[in-house]
Amino acid sequence: MTAERNHFLELAAAVVDREPVAWAAAAAAADSEQQRALIRQLQQIARIAQVHQQLPSLEGGRDRAVSPTSPAKDEGLMSLGGYRLLERIGEGAMAVVYKAERQAPEPAIVAIKALKHELDFDEVKRRFDTVRSALERVDHPGIASIFELGLSPQARPFLVCEYVEGWPITVYAARHELPVGARLGLFAELCEAVQAGHDAGLVHRSIKPSNVLVEQRGKGRAPRILDFGTVTITAQRLTEWVLLARFGRPIAAPSYLAPEETDLSEKSIAPTTDVYSLGALLFELLTGRAFSKPREGHERRLTEARRMIHEEQPPSVMATLGRPDRAIPRRSTERDHAALDELLRTALQKNPADRFRSAAALRDAVANIVVQVGD
Ligand SMILES: Nc1ncnc2c1ncn2[C@@H]1O[C@H](COP(=O)(O)OP(=O)(O)OP(=O)(O)O)[C@@H](O)[C@H]1O
Ligand SMILES: [Mg+2]
Repeated sequence: MTAERNHFLELAAAVVDREPVAWAAAAAAADSEQQRALIRQLQQIARIAQVHQQLPSLEGGRDRAVSPTSPAKDEGLMSLGGYRLLERIGEGAMAVVYKAERQAPEPAIVAIKALKHELDFDEVKRRFDTVRSALERVDHPGIASIFELGLSPQARPFLVCEYVEGWPITVYAARHELPVGARLGLFAELCEAVQAGHDAGLVHRSIKPSNVLVEQRGKGRAPRILDFGTVTITAQRLTEWVLLARFGRPIAAPSYLAPEETDLSEKSIAPTTDVYSLGALLFELLTGRAFSKPREGHERRLTEARRMIHEEQPPSVMATLGRPDRAIPRRSTERDHAALDELLRTALQKNPADRFRSAAALRDAVANIVVQVGD
């Protein structure tokens, strides 16, 4: 993050409590489009901060407990738009996710991602339309669809998405005790799906286990990517940085974030940003642990998140697998591990230009190793 961007976050943290009238005055005084854009961004931060000040999840600095099977009775909601909420699936940084049922035109099960914040609906709608039209160009079964954008009675946007029945890829691999070759095979399929999203002009920006579920199809299995486009639609990264800077709320999965994600400008976000997250996911898929995390007791610090994301290097797969508690069923050899280390080093380069050029290039490198490892 540049000094300028750091300054922006400090500024944001300082002004979030301003009265609405102060924002109106600031907007009136702005004399360039750049200044107006900055004020809009700060105002959005203020709204996010306001909502989060009221959330019980921040009291005592602990997140709300989430029960994946509890009935959907939040906010007194039993339905949203034309959907009946069936069950609360889980909760992330931006939203609570429900399994829901659509009655018409024909019955269908969907997932509803109900955002916790009141965002500027026009802006969300604009970003949603862009993502939707890109998703319509994607022809890949590995990417879960986003069907619709709605507005709840509490004026919070919600997204209606394809419901995916599956386990996060790392959990699936552990439950089925998949050998290394099978893990790499699944990962190669995932890279193909990510490439299809990139070909349509979308960058995911949040590839991590909770967004990659493996669906069982008879004897076969296939990875399905969730949230392709939702980071863009909801301006999620901005929210996460504000919550960390202002309230010390830790980022959910910092080890997947590419260094360019700590820059609030979106100019440097590119397909190689997803290549980095794919590398982080692969490390975890092979070793059972994230390749880096904030130092204990420092999770609530912006400086620690930046340090970790910009400086931590992946340890060697071989060394990690060598630990007795990390063993996964494998027939791979030391030579395979050395090849995997090299591959991960390239995917996880801090400078985007030094990584694999594309998800497809990463896939090809993985496929080469699969040939050696076998299944
Ligand atoms: N379309 C879906 N089908 C099935 N499960 C889903 C769907 N969307 C989300 N989930 C599950 O609901 C939970 C919450 O998802 P959500 O996207 O809000 O948070 P997350 O992926 O954990 O993190 P983040 O806030 O960074 O996106 C996760 O366990 C996720 O796997
Ligand atoms: Mg998600």
